[in-house]
Amino acid sequence: MQSFDTLIKNGTLITAADRFRADIGIRDGRIVALGEGLGDLHDDSPDNAQVVAKEVIDATGLWVMPGGIDAHCHLDQPLGDGAVMADGFVTGTRSAAAGGTTTVIPFAAQFKGQSLRAAVDDYHRRSDGQAMIDYAFHMIVTDPTEAVLRDELPALIEEGYSSFKIYLTYDDLKLNDREVLKVLALARREGAMVMVHAENADCIAYLTELLESQGRTAPHYHAEAHSAIAEREATHRAISLAELIDVPLLIVHVSGPEAIEQIRWAQGRGLRVYGETCPQYLMLTAADLEADGFEGAKCLCSPPPRNKAAQEAVWQALENGVFQVFSSDHAPFRFDDDKGKKLHGESASFAHVPNGIPGLETRLAILFSEGVIKQRIDATRFVALTATNPAKIYGLYPRKGTIAIGSDADLTLWDPEARVTVRNADLHHGVDYTPYEGLELSGRVALTLCRGRVVSRDGRPTGRPGDGLFLRCDRPTPARPRGESKGF
Ligand code: URP
Ligand code: ZN
Ligand code: ZN
Repeated sequence: MQSFDTLIKNGTLITAADRFRADIGIRDGRIVALGEGLGDLHDDSPDNAQVVAKEVIDATGLWVMPGGIDAHCHLDQPLGDGAVMADGFVTGTRSAAAGGTTTVIPFAAQFKGQSLRAAVDDYHRRSDGQAMIDYAFHMIVTDPTEAVLRDELPALIEEGYSSFKIYLTYDDLKLNDREVLKVLALARREGAMVMVHAENADCIAYLTELLESQGRTAPHYHAEAHSAIAEREATHRAISLAELIDVPLLIVHVSGPEAIEQIRWAQGRGLRVYGETCPQYLMLTAADLEADGFEGAKCLCSPPPRNKAAQEAVWQALENGVFQVFSSDHAPFRFDDDKGKKLHGESASFAHVPNGIPGLETRLAILFSEGVIKQRIDATRFVALTATNPAKIYGLYPRKGTIAIGSDADLTLWDPEARVTVRNADLHHGVDYTPYEGLELSGRVALTLCRGRVVSRDGRPTGRPGDGLFLRCDRPTPARPRGESKGF
């Protein structure tokens, strides 16, 4: 007898490798059967009456893909400057679910002077019982003291926090090169994945000072201060430091050709250097920061969106495999709010505007429409970029990121024929705008299941806070070094 909690019938299944017609049988939150005609009655079978499914979902005309993994988003992250994120785990995960995402990996961020363990404990307090979909934590390491390197990081990696982000910019977050080398050596020894925010802090500080001295403080000067050359230099430096230690590395939120060339150069030399980009680098340019008055602050993020040629370079790097991961970098600040973009008022210098834009709910829809439907990337690459590769790179595979027997039943059912117009009023985050207002997209998420439970239907979240599970991540295979330790 076969018994399922849920049976998904007649869909076209798409994984990072294959596209095929099959039904999916789900029991206890996991995929337990894949096959043709699951649950169909056959006159010659004596067991017919015993094929049971509590719920049958008809996926005729739909594409069934692994649920999205958003491996770079910021939720309820404490900030030292008075700004407050507009999304915690309730609104962030409901918004993610509505957009087809079933796992998020936000950041437990260490303040300088704080123990990393305390930052992780605090982040659990912020997230416990809140999430509607599953979640894991990256850490942000800002203060790699002896105690952090000797005791805290090795223990936390072992406990399932197997990736962390470091910054080469922002005064309150950045590491110097010697500190970077120390954390890279630690990551090599312990098998963690290191993510790098690669912008040169001194270049940005120099350009900011110059622009401010000339009275050039409107939001669009942010794009000048955060030059692509500063991004290129820091990307190259991070890669060089990682090569010295012989440890893999992932450069996050890459904005254009300057940094892409560095990553391609490293990959061409056989280094395990991975790259991530985000929707804003496909859909926005620096001109969007020039909107009237303070409006441009809605699109102010770091690195900033560049120009049309940069968008084209980012598309090519998605097509040709330079990038492995497509994340939102959702950093939610309300626009009309003195704890958000207007923290220091509308006439504040760009240097004092909270960095970041929302995108959890629109990430998949944008790449599906502009990439898959417009035939820039095929559907299998879409799955790789948005689910399978993040699962592998952050130690969640094969539990997450694929459609296979034994994997969690995290599934997104797409209607490729539908058309939608993005309206902030229809989104479920806590932000009062979307940079993509009015954007017309092809394809839409019809249904999202997280461990077999329907968490969104026709763009409306249906889950409850507390349904989401905290996930401990394995040491990722892609974080393994290439060769023998050189004793560094
Ligand atoms: O501007 C951005 N990207 N803000 C979020 C924080 C970060 O560096 O990813
Ligand atoms: Zn960053
Ligand atoms: Zn970020």
